[in-house]
Amino acid sequence: MKIGIDKIGFYAPDLYVDMRELASARGIEPDKFTIGIGQEKMAIAPITQDTVTLAANAALNILDDSDKKKIDLVIFGTESGIDQSKSAAVYVHELLGLDSAARAFEIKQACYGATAGIQMAKGHIALNPDSKVLVLASDIARYGLNSPGESTQGAGAVAIVMSANPRILALEDKSAYFTSDIMDFWRPAYSDTAFVDGKFSNEQYSLFFETVWKQYRSKSGLGFEDFEALCFHVPYTKMGLKALKPVLEVEAKEMDQQRLLENYQKSIQYNKVVGNIYTGSLYLSLLSLLEHKEGLKEGSRIGLFSYGSGAVGEFFTGIVQPEYQNQLKIAQHVDQLSVRKKISIEEYETLFVEELPIDGSTVKLAIENDSAPICLSGISDNKRQYINKQR
Ligand code: COA
Repeated sequence: MKIGIDKIGFYAPDLYVDMRELASARGIEPDKFTIGIGQEKMAIAPITQDTVTLAANAALNILDDSDKKKIDLVIFGTESGIDQSKSAAVYVHELLGLDSAARAFEIKQACYGATAGIQMAKGHIALNPDSKVLVLASDIARYGLNSPGESTQGAGAVAIVMSANPRILALEDKSAYFTSDIMDFWRPAYSDTAFVDGKFSNEQYSLFFETVWKQYRSKSGLGFEDFEALCFHVPYTKMGLKALKPVLEVEAKEMDQQRLLENYQKSIQYNKVVGNIYTGSLYLSLLSLLEHKEGLKEGSRIGLFSYGSGAVGEFFTGIVQPEYQNQLKIAQHVDQLSVRKKISIEEYETLFVEELPIDGSTVKLAIENDSAPICLSGISDNKRQYINKQR
């Protein structure tokens, strides 16, 4: 039985910062951000969007009534969740009106969480072929104003419906994974911004890619010539390339290098203008490839490299399905990104430090300024209040 991705959608908040303007404000040569790091725009979440609403908005764009009835498992991957106890999946389950005969929970391993969710969903569907699973990857990446990682922030979510006989990508069974206890990036419970050892993190990411690729190659007997494209977890769009190029140069023929490097560019178009969405980055990259590479042939193999600091890495693969183009919402995504509002660096700095009350007081938020259908409308009695404007 084929199992894999039947639908995929994303949502990014309707505000962004231009990376050239951010560079100028920080006294940095703009080419460092646009060329050296590979980012053009960075999505900024207003206070009315959190990881719950971003994920719910991403899912709203792809689910129909039949999905809502058949989804019996909701897995939410995030590393910027809103509650230490209750899962974001339960809020989204309610906001989308899913059937109550469902499991719903949150999963965490830095940017690897959604991949763990996808593999878990695959096992669930193997045992329950009629079921559908909603996997959500949602994050707001925050490193801090004026910090070295500031240019690799962002906000957004990817929603994936997994099923048997998927219409986009059938996942293959061979997969290679690797875990090692390292401190390259982490966020203690007391901090709302991440700590990162940038140089070390880049080195480990590349090492993890090389390790899982070699492991995969020996498990599967496949090589770069068997892949149409490779998608990477991309906190910034140069990062995947830095891991891929040295391995390609040693192992791949010229024509395979050329194809994989060209398709890498197709796979980062959305990431360049959204920024870092942590857990969802790899899947935004997959979506970018599917929506920017014209006419991927049925049966093409795509490799996916997932990396979650701390760290866990995995390389797994999927086969493009004949109907995949009918399942995409390219016009909706282009429109969503083009109507966003650019904000100044001063406005971004104000939004960055805006906080919700932590003393139990009530606050009502100005949801009329947020174009998203699902918003955080306030806090009352230490409880987040959400609204789906379409209901
Ligand atoms: N024009 C073009 N490129 C320029 C440039 C300019 N004017 N100035 C610098 N660059 C290039 C550098 O050469 C470098 O490219 P290279 O990596 O190909 O050598 C790149 O821009 C970054 O410069 P660097 O000096 O390494 O940046 P930094 O020390 O300020 O680090 C980050 C910034 C974002 C790269 C680093 O903090 C980082 O990697 N953070 C995130 C890591 C992460 O997300 N880890 C967790 C999950 S994987």
